[in-house]
Amino acid sequence: MPINKLILGDNLEILKSIEADTIDLIYLDPPFFSNRNYEVIWGDAGEIRSFQDRWSGGMDHYIGWLKERVEEMHRILKPTGSIFLHCDWHAQAYIQVEILDKLFGTSNFHNKITWKRADTHNDAKKQLPNVTDDIFYYSKTDKFIFNTQYTAHDPQTLRDWYQYLEFPDGTVRKMTKEEKDSQIIPSDSRRFNADNMASPNPRPNLMYEYKGYGYPVKGWRYSLETMQQLDAEHKLLFPEDKKGRIMRKRYLDEQKGVVVGDGWDDISLVRAASNERIGYPTQKPEALLERIIKMASNEGDTVLDPFMGGGTTIAVAEKLNRQWIGIDQSAMAVKVTELRLQKQQDLFSAPYTVQLHKYDYDTLRYKDAFQFESWIVQQFGGKANTKQRGDMGLDGKAVDGAPIQVKRSDNIGRNVIDNFKSAVERFDKNLFETHIAAKQPIGYIIAFSFGKGAIEEVARLKNKEDQIIRLVTVEEIVPIAVKPVIGVHINELEKDESDQRSAGTRKIEFVAAGQSPAGIEFYSWDFTYDAEKGFKPEVFIDKEGKQIYSCRTGLHNIAVKVVDNDGLENIEVIKLKINGKIEQVK
Ligand SMILES: C[S@@+](CC[C@H](N)C(=O)[O-])C[C@H]1O[C@@H](n2cnc3c(N)ncnc32)[C@H](O)[C@@H]1O
Repeated sequence: MPINKLILGDNLEILKSIEADTIDLIYLDPPFFSNRNYEVIWGDAGEIRSFQDRWSGGMDHYIGWLKERVEEMHRILKPTGSIFLHCDWHAQAYIQVEILDKLFGTSNFHNKITWKRADTHNDAKKQLPNVTDDIFYYSKTDKFIFNTQYTAHDPQTLRDWYQYLEFPDGTVRKMTKEEKDSQIIPSDSRRFNADNMASPNPRPNLMYEYKGYGYPVKGWRYSLETMQQLDAEHKLLFPEDKKGRIMRKRYLDEQKGVVVGDGWDDISLVRAASNERIGYPTQKPEALLERIIKMASNEGDTVLDPFMGGGTTIAVAEKLNRQWIGIDQSAMAVKVTELRLQKQQDLFSAPYTVQLHKYDYDTLRYKDAFQFESWIVQQFGGKANTKQRGDMGLDGKAVDGAPIQVKRSDNIGRNVIDNFKSAVERFDKNLFETHIAAKQPIGYIIAFSFGKGAIEEVARLKNKEDQIIRLVTVEEIVPIAVKPVIGVHINELEKDESDQRSAGTRKIEFVAAGQSPAGIEFYSWDFTYDAEKGFKPEVFIDKEGKQIYSCRTGLHNIAVKVVDNDGLENIEVIKLKINGKIEQVK
Protein backbone atom coordinates (compact mmCIF):
# COMPACT_ATOMS: atom_id res chain seq x y z
CA MET A 1 0.00 0.00 0.00
CA PRO A 2 1.53 3.38 -0.95
CA ILE A 3 2.43 5.47 2.04
CA ASN A 4 0.96 8.91 2.94
CA LYS A 5 -2.65 8.31 2.23
CA LEU A 6 -6.00 9.63 3.38
CA ILE A 7 -8.68 7.01 2.92
CA LEU A 8 -12.44 7.40 3.09
CA GLY A 9 -14.23 4.32 4.32
CA ASP A 10 -15.09 2.02 7.20
CA ASN A 11 -11.74 1.29 8.81
CA LEU A 12 -12.58 -2.41 9.20
CA GLU A 13 -12.56 -2.94 5.44
CA ILE A 14 -9.51 -0.80 4.90
CA LEU A 15 -7.47 -2.31 7.74
CA LYS A 16 -8.13 -5.74 6.21
CA SER A 17 -6.47 -4.57 2.99
CA ILE A 18 -3.24 -3.53 4.76
CA GLU A 19 -0.41 -6.03 4.75
CA ALA A 20 0.58 -7.71 8.03
CA ASP A 21 3.58 -6.40 10.03
CA THR A 22 3.90 -3.08 8.17
CA ILE A 23 2.91 -0.30 10.62
CA ASP A 24 5.12 1.13 13.37
CA LEU A 25 2.60 3.05 15.44
CA ILE A 26 -1.19 3.18 15.69
CA TYR A 27 -3.06 5.88 17.59
CA LEU A 28 -6.82 5.52 17.73
CA ASP A 29 -9.40 7.80 19.22
CA PRO A 30 -12.61 5.94 18.46
CA PRO A 31 -16.01 7.43 19.19
CA PHE A 32 -16.65 6.94 22.90
CA PHE A 33 -19.38 4.77 24.27
CA SER A 34 -21.70 7.53 25.38
CA ASN A 35 -24.87 7.17 23.30
CA ARG A 36 -25.35 10.86 22.93
CA ASN A 37 -26.27 12.69 19.81
CA TYR A 38 -23.51 15.21 20.14
CA GLU A 39 -21.17 12.34 19.64
CA VAL A 40 -21.99 12.69 15.95
CA ILE A 41 -19.33 15.15 14.92
CA TRP A 42 -19.57 15.63 11.19
CA GLY A 43 -23.17 14.59 10.60
CA ASP A 44 -22.53 13.33 7.07
CA ALA A 45 -23.82 10.06 5.66
CA GLY A 46 -20.65 8.04 6.43
CA GLU A 47 -20.51 9.03 10.06
CA ILE A 48 -24.18 8.52 10.73
CA ARG A 49 -23.85 4.98 9.37
CA SER A 50 -20.98 4.26 11.72
CA PHE A 51 -22.84 5.76 14.65
CA GLN A 52 -25.80 3.48 13.99
CA ASP A 53 -23.49 0.46 13.66
CA ARG A 54 -22.13 0.96 17.13
CA TRP A 55 -25.45 1.72 18.67
CA SER A 56 -27.55 -1.20 17.65
CA GLY A 57 -26.64 -2.80 20.99
CA GLY A 58 -25.23 -1.94 24.43
CA MET A 59 -21.72 -2.23 25.84
CA ASP A 60 -21.17 -5.77 24.53
CA HIS A 61 -22.01 -4.62 21.06
CA TYR A 62 -19.67 -1.62 21.29
CA ILE A 63 -16.82 -3.82 22.56
CA GLY A 64 -17.41 -6.34 19.76
CA TRP A 65 -17.49 -3.51 17.19
CA LEU A 66 -14.17 -2.13 18.44
CA LYS A 67 -12.52 -5.49 19.04
CA GLU A 68 -12.79 -6.72 15.47
CA ARG A 69 -11.05 -3.52 14.37
CA VAL A 70 -8.30 -3.72 17.00
CA GLU A 71 -7.69 -7.34 15.91
CA GLU A 72 -6.78 -6.07 12.45
CA MET A 73 -4.60 -3.35 14.00
CA HIS A 74 -2.68 -5.99 15.94
CA ARG A 75 -2.14 -7.96 12.73
CA ILE A 76 -0.73 -5.03 10.73
CA LEU A 77 1.60 -3.72 13.46
CA LYS A 78 5.28 -4.55 13.01
CA PRO A 79 6.76 -6.75 15.77
CA THR A 80 8.45 -3.58 17.08
CA GLY A 81 5.24 -1.55 16.83
CA SER A 82 2.92 -0.11 19.47
CA ILE A 83 -0.66 1.00 19.83
CA PHE A 84 -2.17 3.89 21.80
CA LEU A 85 -5.91 3.61 22.37
CA HIS A 86 -7.58 6.80 23.58
CA CYS A 87 -10.85 6.43 25.50
CA ASP A 88 -12.69 7.84 28.51
CA TRP A 89 -14.39 6.53 31.64
CA HIS A 90 -17.41 5.12 29.80
CA ALA A 91 -15.78 1.95 28.52
CA GLN A 92 -12.13 2.04 29.54
CA ALA A 93 -12.24 -0.98 31.86
CA TYR A 94 -13.98 -3.15 29.26
CA ILE A 95 -11.60 -1.98 26.55
CA GLN A 96 -8.55 -2.93 28.60
CA VAL A 97 -9.75 -6.33 29.79
CA GLU A 98 -11.89 -7.47 26.88
CA ILE A 99 -9.86 -6.12 23.99
CA LEU A 100 -6.29 -5.06 24.70
CA ASP A 101 -5.22 -7.65 27.28
CA LYS A 102 -6.73 -10.39 25.15
CA LEU A 103 -5.18 -9.30 21.85
CA PHE A 104 -1.83 -7.89 22.98
CA GLY A 105 -1.31 -9.81 26.23
CA THR A 106 -0.89 -8.34 29.71
CA SER A 107 2.90 -8.57 29.42
CA ASN A 108 2.81 -6.08 26.54
CA PHE A 109 0.78 -3.56 28.51
CA HIS A 110 2.97 -0.59 29.44
CA ASN A 111 0.84 2.27 30.70
CA LYS A 112 -2.58 3.66 31.20
CA ILE A 113 -1.80 7.32 30.54
CA THR A 114 -4.15 9.71 32.26
CA TRP A 115 -4.56 12.91 30.30
CA LYS A 116 -6.09 15.80 32.21
CA ARG A 117 -7.96 17.39 29.36
CA ALA A 118 -10.04 20.02 31.16
CA ASP A 119 -10.19 22.07 34.31
CA THR A 120 -12.55 20.93 37.02
CA HIS A 121 -15.95 22.56 36.92
CA ASN A 122 -18.99 22.48 39.12
CA ASP A 123 -20.92 19.47 38.01
CA ALA A 124 -24.59 19.14 38.89
CA LYS A 125 -24.02 15.47 39.64
CA LYS A 126 -23.15 14.01 43.05
CA GLN A 127 -19.70 12.87 41.96
CA LEU A 128 -16.29 14.22 41.08
CA PRO A 129 -16.23 15.94 37.70
CA ASN A 130 -14.74 13.85 34.87
CA VAL A 131 -11.82 15.79 33.51
CA THR A 132 -9.48 13.06 32.34
CA ASP A 133 -9.21 10.67 29.41
CA ASP A 134 -7.30 7.38 29.38
CA ILE A 135 -4.77 6.36 26.76
CA PHE A 136 -3.74 2.70 26.83
CA TYR A 137 -0.23 1.94 25.63
CA TYR A 138 0.59 -1.61 24.45
CA SER A 139 3.32 -2.99 22.20
CA LYS A 140 3.03 -5.99 19.89
CA THR A 141 6.06 -7.78 21.38
CA ASP A 142 8.59 -7.11 24.13
CA LYS A 143 11.01 -5.51 21.65
CA PHE A 144 9.51 -2.19 20.74
CA ILE A 145 10.50 1.39 19.99
CA PHE A 146 10.51 3.61 23.07
CA ASN A 147 12.10 7.05 23.38
CA THR A 148 12.01 8.67 26.83
CA GLN A 149 10.21 12.03 26.75
CA TYR A 150 10.98 15.09 28.83
CA THR A 151 9.06 18.21 29.76
CA ALA A 152 10.33 21.58 30.85
CA HIS A 153 10.95 22.10 34.60
CA ASP A 154 8.02 23.68 36.38
CA PRO A 155 8.61 27.26 37.65
CA GLN A 156 8.87 26.18 41.30
CA THR A 157 11.57 23.59 40.55
CA LEU A 158 13.47 26.18 38.58
CA ARG A 159 13.24 28.67 41.47
CA ASP A 160 14.26 26.17 44.10
CA TRP A 161 16.90 24.27 42.22
CA TYR A 162 18.60 26.45 39.65
CA GLN A 163 19.83 29.35 41.79
CA TYR A 164 23.36 30.06 40.54
CA LEU A 165 24.70 32.09 37.63
CA GLU A 166 28.09 31.72 35.97
CA PHE A 167 29.64 34.47 33.82
CA PRO A 168 32.13 34.20 30.92
CA ASP A 169 35.07 35.23 33.16
CA GLY A 170 34.34 32.24 35.43
CA THR A 171 32.79 34.23 38.29
CA VAL A 172 29.81 32.70 39.97
CA ARG A 173 27.05 34.20 42.10
CA LYS A 174 23.64 33.31 43.51
CA MET A 175 20.60 34.76 41.77
CA THR A 176 19.06 37.85 43.35
CA LYS A 177 15.46 37.85 44.59
CA GLU A 178 14.42 40.03 41.62
CA GLU A 179 16.02 37.61 39.20
CA LYS A 180 14.22 34.70 40.87
CA ASP A 181 10.89 36.50 40.84
CA SER A 182 11.13 37.65 37.26
CA GLN A 183 13.01 34.54 36.04
CA ILE A 184 15.01 36.97 33.89
CA ILE A 185 18.79 36.59 34.06
CA PRO A 186 21.69 38.49 32.41
CA SER A 187 22.02 37.30 28.82
CA ASP A 188 25.71 36.40 29.15
CA SER A 189 25.16 34.16 32.19
CA ARG A 190 24.59 30.40 32.46
CA ARG A 191 22.21 29.19 35.11
CA PHE A 192 23.04 26.10 37.13
CA ASN A 193 22.07 23.94 40.05
CA ALA A 194 24.75 23.14 42.67
CA ASP A 195 24.22 19.44 43.26
CA ASN A 196 25.29 17.61 46.38
CA MET A 197 28.06 15.05 45.73
CA ALA A 198 27.75 13.16 49.03
CA SER A 199 27.20 9.42 48.78
CA PRO A 200 23.84 8.29 50.27
CA ASN A 201 25.54 5.14 51.68
CA PRO A 202 28.89 4.80 53.46
CA ARG A 203 31.64 4.41 50.84
CA PRO A 204 34.94 3.95 52.76
CA ASN A 205 36.92 3.72 49.50
CA LEU A 206 35.52 7.07 48.36
CA MET A 207 36.58 8.99 51.42
CA TYR A 208 39.36 11.15 50.10
CA GLU A 209 40.38 14.79 50.40
CA TYR A 210 40.23 16.85 47.19
CA LYS A 211 42.24 20.06 46.76
CA GLY A 212 42.22 20.58 50.52
CA TYR A 213 38.44 20.06 50.87
CA GLY A 214 37.32 17.31 53.26
CA TYR A 215 34.95 14.50 52.24
CA PRO A 216 31.30 14.13 53.32
CA VAL A 217 30.50 11.85 56.24
CA LYS A 218 29.62 8.85 54.05
CA GLY A 219 32.22 9.64 51.37
CA TRP A 220 31.91 11.03 47.82
CA ARG A 221 29.57 9.76 45.20
CA TYR A 222 32.41 9.71 42.62
CA SER A 223 35.83 8.11 42.30
CA LEU A 224 38.91 10.33 42.32
CA GLU A 225 39.27 9.93 38.51
CA THR A 226 35.71 11.11 37.90
CA MET A 227 36.26 14.00 40.32
CA GLN A 228 39.38 15.05 38.38
CA GLN A 229 37.56 14.83 35.09
CA LEU A 230 34.62 16.94 36.34
CA ASP A 231 37.16 19.46 37.62
CA ALA A 232 38.91 19.60 34.22
CA GLU A 233 35.52 20.25 32.62
CA HIS A 234 34.85 23.15 35.09
CA LYS A 235 31.88 21.31 36.48
CA LEU A 236 32.85 21.66 40.14
CA LEU A 237 31.89 24.53 42.43
CA PHE A 238 34.48 25.15 45.15
CA PRO A 239 33.28 27.14 48.17
CA GLU A 240 35.55 29.90 49.46
CA ASP A 241 35.73 28.29 52.86
CA LYS A 242 37.77 25.09 52.77
CA LYS A 243 35.45 23.67 55.42
CA GLY A 244 32.61 23.89 52.91
CA ARG A 245 31.63 21.09 50.56
CA ILE A 246 32.47 20.85 46.84
CA MET A 247 29.30 20.78 44.72
CA ARG A 248 28.65 19.64 41.17
CA LYS A 249 27.37 22.20 38.66
CA ARG A 250 24.43 21.10 36.54
CA TYR A 251 23.79 23.68 33.85
CA LEU A 252 20.14 24.27 32.99
CA ASP A 253 20.91 24.48 29.27
CA GLU A 254 22.34 20.93 29.38
CA GLN A 255 19.31 19.38 31.07
CA LYS A 256 16.69 17.61 28.98
CA GLY A 257 14.00 18.48 31.50
CA VAL A 258 11.84 16.27 33.66
CA VAL A 259 11.08 12.71 32.53
CA VAL A 260 7.44 12.38 31.47
CA GLY A 261 5.41 9.95 33.58
CA ASP A 262 1.97 8.44 33.02
CA GLY A 263 -0.02 11.44 34.30
CA TRP A 264 -0.20 14.16 31.69
CA ASP A 265 -1.49 17.44 33.03
CA ASP A 266 0.67 19.77 31.00
CA ILE A 267 -1.23 19.56 27.70
CA SER A 268 -4.39 21.59 27.50
CA LEU A 269 -7.34 20.88 25.25
CA VAL A 270 -7.66 22.87 22.03
CA ARG A 271 -9.03 26.18 23.27
CA ALA A 272 -11.31 28.50 21.34
CA ALA A 273 -8.55 31.01 20.61
CA SER A 274 -5.91 28.40 19.76
CA ASN A 275 -4.16 28.64 16.39
CA GLU A 276 -4.57 24.95 15.73
CA ARG A 277 -8.31 25.00 16.28
CA ILE A 278 -10.28 23.84 13.29
CA GLY A 279 -13.73 23.97 14.80
CA TYR A 280 -15.07 20.48 15.58
CA PRO A 281 -15.69 19.10 19.03
CA THR A 282 -13.37 16.11 19.48
CA GLN A 283 -10.21 17.68 18.08
CA LYS A 284 -7.19 16.53 20.10
CA PRO A 285 -4.25 18.86 20.75
CA GLU A 286 -1.18 18.49 18.57
CA ALA A 287 1.07 18.43 21.66
CA LEU A 288 -0.58 15.20 22.80
CA LEU A 289 0.11 13.46 19.50
CA GLU A 290 3.58 14.94 19.32
CA ARG A 291 4.48 13.27 22.60
CA ILE A 292 3.04 9.91 21.55
CA ILE A 293 4.62 9.91 18.10
CA LYS A 294 8.06 10.96 19.38
CA MET A 295 7.86 8.41 22.18
CA ALA A 296 6.99 5.37 20.08
CA SER A 297 8.39 5.98 16.61
CA ASN A 298 11.39 7.36 14.77
CA GLU A 299 11.72 9.49 11.65
CA GLY A 300 10.64 7.63 8.51
CA ASP A 301 8.41 5.21 10.46
CA THR A 302 4.77 4.71 9.51
CA VAL A 303 2.01 6.05 11.73
CA LEU A 304 -1.63 5.01 11.25
CA ASP A 305 -4.76 6.65 12.62
CA PRO A 306 -7.84 4.58 11.73
CA PHE A 307 -10.29 7.06 13.35
CA MET A 308 -8.59 10.12 11.99
CA GLY A 309 -11.24 12.81 12.56
CA GLY A 310 -9.82 16.21 11.64
CA GLY A 311 -6.37 14.69 11.21
CA THR A 312 -4.41 15.76 14.30
CA THR A 313 -2.28 12.59 14.15
CA ILE A 314 -1.68 13.02 10.45
CA ALA A 315 -0.73 16.70 10.70
CA VAL A 316 1.75 15.97 13.50
CA ALA A 317 3.19 12.83 11.86
CA GLU A 318 3.82 14.89 8.73
CA LYS A 319 5.58 17.65 10.73
CA LEU A 320 7.74 15.03 12.48
CA ASN A 321 8.82 13.41 9.18
CA ARG A 322 6.93 10.19 9.70
CA GLN A 323 5.01 8.43 6.93
CA TRP A 324 1.31 8.18 7.58
CA ILE A 325 -2.05 6.64 6.72
CA GLY A 326 -5.31 8.18 7.93
CA ILE A 327 -8.75 6.55 7.66
CA ASP A 328 -12.16 7.99 8.40
CA GLN A 329 -15.66 7.03 7.43
CA SER A 330 -16.73 10.63 7.08
CA ALA A 331 -16.01 12.40 3.79
CA MET A 332 -15.98 15.62 5.74
CA ALA A 333 -13.25 14.40 8.12
CA VAL A 334 -11.11 13.33 5.15
CA LYS A 335 -11.51 16.68 3.43
CA VAL A 336 -10.87 18.69 6.60
CA THR A 337 -7.67 16.71 7.13
CA GLU A 338 -6.65 17.35 3.55
CA LEU A 339 -7.20 21.10 3.96
CA ARG A 340 -5.22 21.02 7.18
CA LEU A 341 -2.32 19.33 5.42
CA GLN A 342 -2.49 21.79 2.53
CA LYS A 343 -2.26 24.62 5.01
CA GLN A 344 0.90 23.31 6.65
CA GLN A 345 2.64 21.90 3.57
CA ASP A 346 5.26 23.61 1.49
CA LEU A 347 7.20 22.75 -1.66
CA PHE A 348 9.34 20.21 0.16
CA SER A 349 6.53 18.24 1.76
CA ALA A 350 6.12 14.58 0.86
CA PRO A 351 3.33 13.79 -1.61
CA TYR A 352 0.14 12.03 -0.57
CA THR A 353 -2.99 10.59 -2.13
CA VAL A 354 -6.63 10.84 -1.16
CA GLN A 355 -8.83 7.83 -1.76
CA LEU A 356 -12.55 8.64 -1.88
CA HIS A 357 -15.49 6.42 -2.75
CA LYS A 358 -15.95 8.11 -6.08
CA TYR A 359 -13.53 9.39 -8.68
CA ASP A 360 -13.73 12.91 -9.98
CA TYR A 361 -14.69 12.93 -13.65
CA ASP A 362 -12.37 15.84 -14.51
CA THR A 363 -9.37 14.31 -12.78
CA LEU A 364 -9.77 11.03 -14.67
CA ARG A 365 -10.68 12.62 -17.99
CA TYR A 366 -7.63 14.89 -18.01
CA LYS A 367 -5.15 12.55 -16.31
CA ASP A 368 -1.96 11.55 -18.15
CA ALA A 369 -3.19 9.31 -20.99
CA PHE A 370 -0.84 6.35 -20.52
CA GLN A 371 -1.30 6.32 -16.76
CA PHE A 372 -5.05 6.38 -17.18
CA GLU A 373 -5.04 3.57 -19.75
CA SER A 374 -3.08 1.17 -17.61
CA TRP A 375 -4.99 2.08 -14.44
CA ILE A 376 -8.44 1.55 -15.95
CA VAL A 377 -7.38 -1.73 -17.64
CA GLN A 378 -6.28 -3.00 -14.21
CA GLN A 379 -9.50 -1.79 -12.56
CA PHE A 380 -11.35 -3.79 -15.25
CA GLY A 381 -9.45 -6.86 -14.13
CA GLY A 382 -7.24 -6.93 -17.24
CA LYS A 383 -3.53 -6.76 -17.84
CA ALA A 384 -2.20 -3.48 -19.17
CA ASN A 385 0.51 -3.13 -21.84
CA THR A 386 3.82 -2.15 -20.36
CA LYS A 387 4.95 -0.23 -23.46
CA GLN A 388 3.30 2.85 -24.91
CA ARG A 389 4.25 2.24 -28.56
CA GLY A 390 3.85 -0.48 -31.19
CA ASP A 391 0.64 -1.77 -29.64
CA MET A 392 -1.63 -1.16 -32.69
CA GLY A 393 -3.66 1.17 -30.45
CA LEU A 394 -4.47 -1.70 -28.07
CA ASP A 395 -3.84 -1.04 -24.40
CA GLY A 396 -4.09 -4.43 -22.73
CA LYS A 397 -5.90 -7.74 -22.50
CA ALA A 398 -9.04 -8.71 -20.62
CA VAL A 399 -9.21 -11.81 -18.41
CA ASP A 400 -10.54 -13.82 -21.39
CA GLY A 401 -7.47 -12.82 -23.46
CA ALA A 402 -9.39 -10.44 -25.77
CA PRO A 403 -7.71 -7.09 -26.49
CA ILE A 404 -8.79 -3.87 -24.78
CA GLN A 405 -8.60 -0.38 -26.20
CA VAL A 406 -8.98 2.63 -23.94
CA LYS A 407 -10.22 5.99 -25.22
CA ARG A 408 -9.88 8.75 -22.68
CA SER A 409 -12.73 10.70 -24.23
CA ASP A 410 -16.48 11.02 -24.62
CA ASN A 411 -18.83 10.34 -27.47
CA ILE A 412 -16.68 7.77 -29.27
CA GLY A 413 -17.54 7.62 -32.99
CA ARG A 414 -18.00 4.88 -35.57
CA ASN A 415 -14.42 5.25 -36.95
CA VAL A 416 -13.02 3.97 -33.62
CA ILE A 417 -15.00 0.74 -34.02
CA ASP A 418 -13.73 0.24 -37.59
CA ASN A 419 -10.10 0.75 -36.61
CA PHE A 420 -10.45 -1.40 -33.49
CA LYS A 421 -11.98 -4.27 -35.42
CA SER A 422 -9.13 -4.45 -37.93
CA ALA A 423 -6.49 -4.03 -35.21
CA VAL A 424 -8.00 -6.93 -33.23
CA GLU A 425 -8.04 -9.14 -36.30
CA ARG A 426 -4.38 -8.37 -37.09
CA PHE A 427 -3.35 -8.70 -33.45
CA ASP A 428 -4.24 -12.39 -33.10
CA LYS A 429 -6.19 -13.98 -35.96
CA ASN A 430 -6.57 -17.27 -34.18
CA LEU A 431 -8.03 -15.72 -31.01
CA PHE A 432 -10.28 -13.51 -33.16
CA GLU A 433 -11.77 -16.53 -34.91
CA THR A 434 -12.14 -18.71 -31.82
CA HIS A 435 -13.96 -15.94 -29.99
CA ILE A 436 -16.35 -15.45 -32.93
CA ALA A 437 -17.05 -19.18 -33.03
CA ALA A 438 -17.65 -19.28 -29.24
CA LYS A 439 -19.81 -16.11 -29.38
CA GLN A 440 -17.39 -14.39 -27.03
CA PRO A 441 -16.32 -10.75 -27.36
CA ILE A 442 -13.50 -10.20 -29.86
CA GLY A 443 -12.47 -7.15 -27.87
CA TYR A 444 -13.42 -4.40 -25.43
CA ILE A 445 -13.41 -0.64 -25.86
CA ILE A 446 -13.39 1.44 -22.71
CA ALA A 447 -14.40 5.12 -22.90
CA PHE A 448 -16.29 7.77 -20.97
CA SER A 449 -19.24 7.58 -23.39
CA PHE A 450 -20.09 6.30 -26.86
CA GLY A 451 -21.84 8.05 -29.75
CA LYS A 452 -24.86 6.76 -31.64
CA GLY A 453 -22.74 5.79 -34.70
CA ALA A 454 -20.47 3.56 -32.61
CA ILE A 455 -23.37 1.86 -30.84
CA GLU A 456 -25.17 1.16 -34.14
CA GLU A 457 -22.04 -0.28 -35.74
CA VAL A 458 -21.46 -2.60 -32.77
CA ALA A 459 -25.06 -3.83 -33.10
CA ARG A 460 -24.61 -4.37 -36.84
CA LEU A 461 -21.39 -6.36 -36.37
CA LYS A 462 -23.08 -8.60 -33.85
CA ASN A 463 -26.12 -9.24 -36.06
CA LYS A 464 -24.53 -9.56 -39.44
CA GLU A 465 -21.02 -10.86 -38.72
CA ASP A 466 -21.32 -12.56 -35.33
CA GLN A 467 -18.56 -10.27 -34.03
CA ILE A 468 -19.13 -9.04 -30.50
CA ILE A 469 -17.33 -5.87 -29.42
CA ARG A 470 -18.16 -4.85 -25.84
CA LEU A 471 -18.41 -1.13 -25.21
CA VAL A 472 -17.65 -0.39 -21.57
CA THR A 473 -18.02 3.00 -19.95
CA VAL A 474 -15.54 4.07 -17.29
CA GLU A 475 -18.45 4.48 -14.91
CA GLU A 476 -19.30 0.78 -15.22
CA ILE A 477 -15.81 0.01 -13.90
CA VAL A 478 -15.25 2.68 -11.24
CA PRO A 479 -17.79 5.01 -9.59
CA ILE A 480 -17.51 8.53 -10.96
CA ALA A 481 -19.01 11.75 -9.76
CA VAL A 482 -18.89 15.26 -11.08
CA LYS A 483 -17.42 18.05 -8.98
CA PRO A 484 -19.86 20.33 -7.20
CA VAL A 485 -20.46 23.70 -8.85
CA ILE A 486 -20.07 26.91 -6.93
CA GLY A 487 -21.05 30.56 -7.23
CA VAL A 488 -20.24 33.47 -4.90
CA HIS A 489 -22.09 36.75 -4.31
CA ILE A 490 -20.76 39.72 -2.43
CA ASN A 491 -22.69 42.37 -0.50
CA GLU A 492 -21.17 45.44 1.03
CA LEU A 493 -22.20 45.92 4.64
CA GLU A 494 -22.58 49.29 6.31
CA LYS A 495 -19.37 50.37 7.90
CA ASP A 496 -18.81 52.24 11.08
CA GLU A 497 -17.93 55.79 9.86
CA SER A 498 -16.85 56.86 13.34
CA ASP A 499 -14.05 54.27 13.39
CA GLN A 500 -10.97 56.15 12.10
CA ARG A 501 -8.79 53.05 12.02
CA SER A 502 -10.99 51.45 9.43
CA ALA A 503 -10.93 54.39 6.99
CA GLY A 504 -10.78 53.01 3.45
CA THR A 505 -11.65 49.46 4.46
CA ARG A 506 -14.85 47.84 3.28
CA LYS A 507 -16.84 45.33 5.23
CA ILE A 508 -18.05 42.70 2.82
CA GLU A 509 -20.33 39.73 3.17
CA PHE A 510 -19.42 36.77 0.96
CA VAL A 511 -22.15 34.27 0.25
CA ALA A 512 -21.17 31.02 -1.47
CA ALA A 513 -23.70 28.60 -2.93
CA GLY A 514 -22.68 25.16 -4.09
CA GLN A 515 -24.62 22.44 -5.84
CA SER A 516 -24.03 18.72 -6.12
CA PRO A 517 -26.30 15.70 -6.49
CA ALA A 518 -24.47 14.23 -3.48
CA GLY A 519 -25.33 17.23 -1.30
CA ILE A 520 -23.03 20.00 -0.08
CA GLU A 521 -21.09 19.30 3.12
CA PHE A 522 -19.23 22.50 3.89
CA TYR A 523 -17.28 25.50 2.62
CA SER A 524 -13.77 26.60 3.51
CA TRP A 525 -12.24 30.08 3.03
CA ASP A 526 -8.81 31.54 2.30
CA PHE A 527 -8.91 35.36 2.45
CA THR A 528 -5.31 35.84 1.32
CA TYR A 529 -5.25 33.30 -1.48
CA ASP A 530 -2.06 32.94 -3.48
CA ALA A 531 -2.35 30.47 -6.37
CA GLU A 532 1.33 29.56 -6.21
CA LYS A 533 1.23 28.65 -2.54
CA GLY A 534 -2.11 26.87 -2.88
CA PHE A 535 -5.24 27.00 -0.78
CA LYS A 536 -4.41 27.76 2.88
CA PRO A 537 -7.74 28.08 4.69
CA GLU A 538 -8.31 30.56 7.48
CA VAL A 539 -11.85 29.31 8.05
CA PHE A 540 -11.82 25.53 7.82
CA ILE A 541 -15.42 24.55 8.34
CA ASP A 542 -18.28 26.80 7.33
CA LYS A 543 -21.49 24.83 7.00
CA GLU A 544 -23.51 27.84 5.85
CA GLY A 545 -21.22 29.36 3.24
CA LYS A 546 -21.39 32.87 4.63
CA GLN A 547 -18.47 35.00 5.79
CA ILE A 548 -17.91 38.64 6.63
CA TYR A 549 -14.47 40.04 5.92
CA SER A 550 -13.04 43.56 6.02
CA CYS A 551 -10.92 44.42 2.99
CA ARG A 552 -8.43 47.29 3.07
CA THR A 553 -7.63 49.46 0.06
CA GLY A 554 -5.78 47.35 -2.52
CA LEU A 555 -6.16 44.07 -4.37
CA HIS A 556 -7.60 40.98 -2.69
CA ASN A 557 -7.81 37.37 -3.80
CA ILE A 558 -10.39 35.48 -1.82
CA ALA A 559 -10.85 31.76 -2.44
CA VAL A 560 -13.67 29.53 -1.28
CA LYS A 561 -13.80 25.77 -1.59
CA VAL A 562 -16.99 23.77 -1.61
CA VAL A 563 -16.95 20.11 -0.58
CA ASP A 564 -19.78 17.65 -1.24
CA ASN A 565 -20.88 14.46 0.48
CA ASP A 566 -18.69 12.33 -1.80
CA GLY A 567 -15.67 14.40 -0.80
CA LEU A 568 -15.40 16.06 -4.21
CA GLU A 569 -14.54 19.73 -4.21
CA ASN A 570 -14.42 22.84 -6.32
CA ILE A 571 -12.86 26.23 -5.82
CA GLU A 572 -13.86 29.78 -6.77
CA VAL A 573 -11.48 32.73 -6.54
CA ILE A 574 -12.88 36.24 -6.23
CA LYS A 575 -10.57 39.11 -7.12
CA LEU A 576 -11.53 42.43 -5.58
CA LYS A 577 -10.06 45.90 -6.08
CA ILE A 578 -10.85 48.22 -3.21
CA ASN A 579 -10.21 51.88 -3.93
CA GLY A 580 -12.97 54.06 -2.55
CA LYS A 581 -15.35 51.56 -4.10
CA ILE A 582 -15.45 47.80 -4.55
CA GLU A 583 -14.66 46.48 -7.98
CA GLN A 584 -14.73 42.80 -8.91
CA VAL A 585 -11.93 42.12 -11.40
CA LYS A 586 -11.62 39.18 -13.76
C1 LIG B 1 -13.32 11.09 18.18
S1 LIG B 1 -13.13 11.35 16.49
C2 LIG B 1 -11.41 11.43 16.23
C3 LIG B 1 -10.83 12.79 16.49
C4 LIG B 1 -9.36 12.90 16.16
N1 LIG B 1 -8.53 12.20 17.09
C5 LIG B 1 -8.93 14.35 16.05
O1 LIG B 1 -8.07 14.83 16.80
O2 LIG B 1 -9.47 15.02 15.18
C6 LIG B 1 -13.61 9.80 15.85
C7 LIG B 1 -13.65 9.71 14.32
O3 LIG B 1 -13.89 8.35 13.97
C8 LIG B 1 -14.62 8.31 12.77
N2 LIG B 1 -15.23 6.97 12.66
C9 LIG B 1 -16.23 6.45 13.39
N3 LIG B 1 -16.47 5.18 13.01
C10 LIG B 1 -15.57 4.89 12.03
C11 LIG B 1 -15.32 3.73 11.24
N4 LIG B 1 -16.01 2.62 11.40
N5 LIG B 1 -14.33 3.80 10.32
C12 LIG B 1 -13.60 4.93 10.15
N6 LIG B 1 -13.81 6.05 10.87
C13 LIG B 1 -14.79 6.03 11.80
C14 LIG B 1 -15.61 9.46 12.92
O4 LIG B 1 -16.07 9.90 11.65
C15 LIG B 1 -14.76 10.51 13.64
O5 LIG B 1 -14.19 11.40 12.72
